[in-house]
Amino acid sequence: MTRQDAFRPRWTPEIAERHAALGARLEQLVPCLEVPLHLAWIDAIQQLKRERGAVIMAHSYQSPEIFHGVADITGDSLALAQAAATCEADTIVLCGVHFMAETAKILAPDRTVLIPDLEAGCSLAASITADDVRALRARHPGLPVVSYVNTTAAVKAESDACCTSANASEVVEAVAAEFGVDTVIFLPDRFLGAHVASQTQIRLVLWDGSCEVHETFTAQQVRHTREQFHARVVAHPECPPEVLAEADFVGSTTAMGSWLEREKPERVALITECSMADNLKSRFPGIEFVKPCNLCPYMQRITLPNIHASLLERKYVVEVPAGIAAGARRALERMLAVGRRDRV
Ligand code: 13P
Ligand code: SF4
Repeated sequence: MTRQDAFRPRWTPEIAERHAALGARLEQLVPCLEVPLHLAWIDAIQQLKRERGAVIMAHSYQSPEIFHGVADITGDSLALAQAAATCEADTIVLCGVHFMAETAKILAPDRTVLIPDLEAGCSLAASITADDVRALRARHPGLPVVSYVNTTAAVKAESDACCTSANASEVVEAVAAEFGVDTVIFLPDRFLGAHVASQTQIRLVLWDGSCEVHETFTAQQVRHTREQFHARVVAHPECPPEVLAEADFVGSTTAMGSWLEREKPERVALITECSMADNLKSRFPGIEFVKPCNLCPYMQRITLPNIHASLLERKYVVEVPAGIAAGARRALERMLAVGRRDRV
């Protein structure tokens, strides 16, 4: 029996009282029957987090009980990378997928970075290897490589710069100017790449990767959603181009929140991972969210019980070999130097 099996937090009226406001918020986002058990785990995790001097970072696709209940820092891939780069806590528990935890470790090499489940991968990160990048460079000599952060550390180490969906066009333009070229190798997401190509004058050589969650959306679904629910439509740039063409706005998970802040639509459909709508709902109580129930199976591997086990047993420690970390850090720092832009 593992220590995790042995530990089962018990709900008590004191816990309910301590977290009354959070409990009321969660009842709007998850079935109310689940809330007492979530609160028991949240209470235990918050206590361990304090004891361990840890900070919990959660991506926007984490489920509401994690996003609202235990995270100290939330945001898109770029926000989490920036937070890791300046983090002062000894330990970071990264509630997201593995490439995000690796990025945190590369940018915060002196911290202990934990991920609660090593199987939290990503179809984009799995679509390309460091050998593939070397072969691409050999086929296109002299062209710089921009890789989406949804890649392994080994792929980042072979790249000139990284980008996220929040700053991809800006990074591509900055890299093209720095290297004095009009063509850049962009990998691995062919849909994000096609979107960036439509936003800049730079020609892109693309890889054939895609996100298994976003690639399933169709233009017909978007038109149907708009007609049936009279909703504005916001889409993540990992969706196919014909889906993006139907959207009122295309942006990263954080840019979606900024757009809602500006536009304040009555009703909106978020064409992305469905936890996103849950997590924005409490920030925008006046907006009605139409949410497609497309969950990322990798993001969903992170749960309150395995976050607790991660803190208790200091697992799973994320390490990046020094040789790879140095190259990957260079590519990430070039991205961070370019700064952030919300228009992608
Ligand atoms: P963001 O960069 O918008 O956080 O997206 C990351 C991701 O994995 C989307 O599927
Ligand atoms: Fe990767 Fe897609 Fe999941 Fe994002 S939603 S982590 S791109 S598989």
